[in-house]
Amino acid sequence: MEARIVLLAGDGIGPEVTEAAMAVLAATGEAFGHDFAVERRHIGGSAIDATGQPLPPETEAACREADAVLLGAVGGPQWDGGPVRPEQGLLALRRALGLYANLRPVTVYPVLARASPLRPELLADVDLVVVRELTGGIYFGRPSERRRVDDEWEAVDTMVYREHEVRRIATLAFELARSRRGQVTSVDKANVLESSRLWREIVNEVATAYPDVTLAHQYVDAAAMHLLRRPAGFDVLLTSNLFGDILSDEAAMLTGSLGNLPSASLGSGKNRYGRPRGLYEPIHGSAPDIAGKDAANPVGAILSLALLLRYSLGLTAEAEAVEEAVGAALEDGWWTADLLAAQPTPAGRGGPRREAKAVVVATTTEMTEAIVAALYERAPANQEK
Ligand code: IPM
Ligand code: MG
Repeated sequence: MEARIVLLAGDGIGPEVTEAAMAVLAATGEAFGHDFAVERRHIGGSAIDATGQPLPPETEAACREADAVLLGAVGGPQWDGGPVRPEQGLLALRRALGLYANLRPVTVYPVLARASPLRPELLADVDLVVVRELTGGIYFGRPSERRRVDDEWEAVDTMVYREHEVRRIATLAFELARSRRGQVTSVDKANVLESSRLWREIVNEVATAYPDVTLAHQYVDAAAMHLLRRPAGFDVLLTSNLFGDILSDEAAMLTGSLGNLPSASLGSGKNRYGRPRGLYEPIHGSAPDIAGKDAANPVGAILSLALLLRYSLGLTAEAEAVEEAVGAALEDGWWTADLLAAQPTPAGRGGPRREAKAVVVATTTEMTEAIVAALYERAPANQEK
């Protein structure tokens, strides 16, 4: 396969985590015999610095031509207060490519259960996916502005959903549930918001075509609570744009760190292989405080690459090998600092780390090297032996 991948490193730790993913991509190509052509483009703050725009037309055009796009992160304090924000580049790209569905799978590597602030017994069977609507809702509603009212500033954002926007994301969630454990939990705030009442009505309507799938509705505040109380109870968590943004950061902590969670943004656009031309990105931000220090957790970016291989290129064995290689490196104790943050200390609730295998504070580079090495062990040539 000779796939064309556009790499949008972005800002902060974006370049470091995407370079880690590129090392894994190169190893995948070598181990499995593929040619991946990678084209690097600007987005976000780095694009503002280079061109004045957060999504330069060349970047958008390159993404439209690509088979898939991998992105790091955008944003940083140096662009606060400027005429345009880095985040606008990402939002514009999602919208331009029609990527209305953002999939955020939350699975816990067993060895990382002790990295989570939650008790390990709550995490044992966690296997959920957040299906977040990505091109509508309060992120894109108009008006969104500041205006003068009675001698002071007022700011407004608009949460708006049309029927077709809810219908298509709900349909995707039900289809996905069918291939999983057959449960959809739809999240809204229908006790307060009119947009949520429409959301709920349309989700109920879509559900009639899926009698084999169980549907539950939860208010977003209750869903936030249940995610901590009984996370293993969720299968497909269907959310609007804003609620999904919030709940997926919360859900990431089930896996031990925000740095672990990947995402796939899909729409109806197809690539040269007749597969979705997706945008893949870790859910974490640009983490300016640790940028350039070789300290960022590359797992979210590397697992995003695995999703890219699976969904946009149909390379299932390769995707699984990458996911297993990440697990193997974690098992071997290659943990970046964020994963160690929640480790119980002798003074803390968990007592001394008795049963724990020794872990070192790994740099981004070391963790990536461990993952690449584990990946080569899974190369077809090594499997036949
Ligand atoms: C995410 C991020 C983005 C979002 C930001 C960077 C615009 O938080 O992908 O979750 O809010 O969608
Ligand atoms: Mg977010």
